[in-house]
Amino acid sequence: MAGVTLKGVQKRFDKTVVIKDLDLEVKEHEFMVLVGPSGCGKSTALRMIAGLEEISGGTITIGDRVVNDLPPKDRDIAMVFQSYALYPHMTVRQNLEFGLKIRKMPRAEIDKLVNNTAQMLGIDHFLDRKPRELSGGQRQRVAVGRAIVRQPAVFLFDEPLSNLDAKLRVQMRAEIAKLQHRLQTTTIYVTHDQVEAMTMGQRVAVLKDGDLKQVGTPMELYDKPANVFVASFIGTPPMNLFAATITEGGATLTTAKFTFPVPASLRSMTAKHDGLKVVVGIRPENILETGVEGRGETAPIEAEVEIAEPLGNEVIVHARAGDALLVAKLEPHRVPKLGEKLSLFVELDSLHLFDAETERRLE
Ligand SMILES: Nc1ncnc2c1ncn2[C@@H]1O[C@H](COP(=O)(O)OP(=O)(O)OP(=O)(O)O)[C@@H](O)[C@H]1O
Ligand SMILES: [Mg+2]
Repeated sequence: MAGVTLKGVQKRFDKTVVIKDLDLEVKEHEFMVLVGPSGCGKSTALRMIAGLEEISGGTITIGDRVVNDLPPKDRDIAMVFQSYALYPHMTVRQNLEFGLKIRKMPRAEIDKLVNNTAQMLGIDHFLDRKPRELSGGQRQRVAVGRAIVRQPAVFLFDEPLSNLDAKLRVQMRAEIAKLQHRLQTTTIYVTHDQVEAMTMGQRVAVLKDGDLKQVGTPMELYDKPANVFVASFIGTPPMNLFAATITEGGATLTTAKFTFPVPASLRSMTAKHDGLKVVVGIRPENILETGVEGRGETAPIEAEVEIAEPLGNEVIVHARAGDALLVAKLEPHRVPKLGEKLSLFVELDSLHLFDAETERRLE
């Protein structure tokens, strides 16, 4: 097994720069998720690690070998694609065996590996069927099985669950995470789905337009997003963000329609930035209607309900406060009516502040 290190990796297609200057260290045994919106360069990055795409600059190291010029078959990786890419004319067993036969592994060893893997993935009943005789979820398992039997140093996954329905995705994402935990194989997993990223990754790397925006554990990204992009990308519903100015020597946040006091916990930081234009972030669960006691400093805010979405365990409320549209996660005890005026409270210790110009988090 091996870690994967990218140093100053670049990718250009003709003159278009797709990956600018990517530094990323995936530790041995780690499950790293690469997440970002469509077109940000996730698949390109993964394909460069796999050797399916040449790099335009920098170095990629797998274990202690620089692999820049190694063909895919010599990189000791196995990749699982969104399309599964199974051989349609071969049975499940033949699909699983294929890579091992090419490597001339002895028959008995192949049988043992294939049978063990099929059992582990719950596909041992389908070994004699062709891929078209399987459901999407079963095909996905075969594709994962084909990667596992090869016992590579590194697994690379590119959106392997996006063709599955919502329920199966949740099930398969737990299975893949468990499997990786058991096998301890270094894994890089690409997805555009931030929930998948948060639930599966030991660490998550957030990409935007070929730029790495932040790398950290899921909770680090959630609790301390390094910039406005990560703040808005991680979390559902997304963080509320609005423009404000730090005023009164750092004591107040002023917007066009309302003001907030700055809580004691942030005061020494805001004092250094008096007059600065900022972006204020509040997560939906940090806006309360009741249960304010014990939540530290809060500030009242009046808002008018525009949409209320009862989900059973909570109500997602979209409400207008001045010119800001706020999304709040409220207790499900009652669903507010459209147009209803709500007296809400903002948990001030949970505010996130970003420099409006650089969009970086203020620390
Ligand atoms: N062969 C190519 N030639 C030119 N441009 C390319 C090529 N392959 C990818 N691109 C461009 O590179 C950018 C990144 O593509 P990539 O497939 O890596 O995105 P992605 O993050 O995987 O997106 P998605 O979530 O939609 O799969 C895109 O703007 C894409 O148009
Ligand atoms: Mg992609």
